[in-house]
Amino acid sequence: MAILSLSTPARRIGAVLAASALVAGGLLASGILERSAVAQDVEAPLSQDAMKALAPRGAKVAAAADCFACHTARGGAPWAGGLPLETPFGIIHATNISPSPRG
Ligand code: HEC
Repeated sequence: MAILSLSTPARRIGAVLAASALVAGGLLASGILERSAVAQDVEAPLSQDAMKALAPRGAKVAAAADCFACHTARGGAPWAGGLPLETPFGIIHATNISPSPRG
């Protein structure tokens, strides 16, 4: 069983790397590394009341981040999108993020 012998440093390192790969593969396969705080929020959405309570804070964040600048086209309805943004890979239009499905 010379192949399985861990007598040389190179084989010991190889065994440690192989074991580490097995552990990492097991963690990935179990999905334990894929959980996030966002996913938990998606699984348990906020109630209508909780969302209403957060609205003033969201308005401040939206103002501070200037979301309005891109998500409102010149002369268009507020937050309805439509503003074209030129990029090296083509024009991207900012989307409608207003509560109205039609924008
Ligand atoms: C620099 C311009 C710009 C700013 C500033 C900006 N956005 Fe956007 N946003 C875009 C563009 C362009 C898209 C569309 C991207 C695409 O189609 O892949 C987008 C997409 C989105 C989407 C996805 C909508 C959908 O239909 O899937 C949401 C939600 C969004 N933005 C929210 C926000 C919020 C909230 C802010 C401020 C915190 C913000 N954006 C600031 C340009 C911007």
